[in-house]
Amino acid sequence: NRKFFVGGNFKMNGTVDMISELINHLNKAGLDGKTEVVVAPPSIYLLQVKEKLTPPAQVAAQNCYTADSGAYTGEISPSQLVDANIEWVILGHSERRSMFGDTDKFVADKTKAALANGLKVILCVGETKEEREKDITMEVNERQLEAVARTIEEKDWEHIVLAYEPVWAIGTGLVASPEQAQEVHADLRQWLGQRVSQKVADSIRIIYGGSVNGKNCKELAQQPDIDGFLVGGASLKPEFVDICKSAD
Ligand code: 13P
Repeated sequence: NRKFFVGGNFKMNGTVDMISELINHLNKAGLDGKTEVVVAPPSIYLLQVKEKLTPPAQVAAQNCYTADSGAYTGEISPSQLVDANIEWVILGHSERRSMFGDTDKFVADKTKAALANGLKVILCVGETKEEREKDITMEVNERQLEAVARTIEEKDWEHIVLAYEPVWAIGTGLVASPEQAQEVHADLRQWLGQRVSQKVADSIRIIYGGSVNGKNCKELAQQPDIDGFLVGGASLKPEFVDICKSAD
């Protein structure tokens, strides 16, 4: 039985005041803990959010580096996140893959480092519009996952939530249909069963991301292999609470 999981990825949005308001709103929402809720503010606001957010809601960074410390200007290490009591990190987001040079291998190495330090990882995979049109959706998602599978051990998967985020659905308003998302989620789960283990395939949460909002979340949430969401734009709005409650 997989616990429903909803992540809010604020991306590079917000101010001290705006984020404080968002967290207040979330704190007052009466979340019952049936769904695991994790918010990922820009790194400069992580400590502020950690201090204000009421558990059991948790906090994620949007990225981290591989090394523990050193001359890596602008980076944050997994051990620094742990030191700040941050529980999660998002890795492999398509915006980092496409704009900031995160290769499959780099994402896998970051995942390994994060897990080794005790962080939990929201690992993102997804195909572009072009790749879907070429009918290589699963090939692309499997390639991204394979890099991680060969870098970590079976037991590590327990600390990973897999986010399927088709690039064509991110920030576009073009949400995947429940059938489209379910199909890829089921394929990813089957792939994990063959490549890693049936236990991992059965227990891992596979969440969907890409233009999820307060209106479309309910139907997506009912699909058997959709175990939650990674929400961008709508996580900055009051409707994020509705998404957090979509499986109730
Ligand atoms: P949107 O919800 O804005 O489409 O973004 C999805 C996403 O990239 C979450 O990580």
